[in-house]
Amino acid sequence: MDEFSAIAPDLPEPFRLLIKQTVDSTNDEVRRLADQGMPEGLIVITDHQTQGRGRRGAAWFSPPGESLAFSVLLRPDVPKALWPRLALVAGLAVAEALEEYIPLVGIKWPNDVWAGGKKIAGILVEAGRDFAVVGIGLNVNTLAFPDEVAQTATSLALEMGREVPRAEMLAAIIRRLSLRRHQIGTEFGEIINSIRLRCVLTGQDVSLTAASGPLSGTVEGISPQGELLLRTTAGLQPLLQADEVRITGHSGQTAT
Ligand code: BTN
Repeated sequence: MDEFSAIAPDLPEPFRLLIKQTVDSTNDEVRRLADQGMPEGLIVITDHQTQGRGRRGAAWFSPPGESLAFSVLLRPDVPKALWPRLALVAGLAVAEALEEYIPLVGIKWPNDVWAGGKKIAGILVEAGRDFAVVGIGLNVNTLAFPDEVAQTATSLALEMGREVPRAEMLAAIIRRLSLRRHQIGTEFGEIINSIRLRCVLTGQDVSLTAASGPLSGTVEGISPQGELLLRTTAGLQPLLQADEVRITGHSGQTAT
């Protein structure tokens, strides 16, 4: 992981790297350090997560040497009610960083990042008492995926046809995150506009699991507050959270 030490001096303030050979989950490592009072900007990055987690407790596949698995400690200076916006910010930062290499990076609300119709990155944002952890898993140079995700996952190398230095990609994400993280307050409209441009769900028929239970309908877009606007037989429903969002058709595309 020496490649990452080389970019450390180029990271914007207050971001700094803690490189770990192995860790249970970078999110958990950041959480432990944050609980001990670590200032914001810490990035824990590893090649081996023994318990890498996705959303809904799913395992996260992150092959050593090929992918990026890291977590960033933030202590936002806006009311905690606004912190969930960081999930959208992180997805946008990753999409924008990828666009330095490939065109047309999509965001599948809330924050899966898509390229070529497949998932290229996943984000897990968790909050502690006075901090937030932004966990990012990005498929950089992976060329083959396990059977379970082979049809739905892609990597930057597969989309570009060549490998990209992981440290260069990490630095690009941190630069974007460093700028975008300040926009969760009064400038959130900037985030929403940029997400709308990349939203792969708008205009699609979807099924999903909302807090109230399963729903299906057509996505009309993203509200100014970052909610998914779902047109159902009962009317237009703004959803703050939803899981298992599946595109069921309309555009002829079927994906999860
Ligand atoms: C998802 O799409 O389900 C989210 C995946 C998030 C994976 C990253 S890898 C780094 C960080 N540490 C974890 O345990 N999870 C996140």
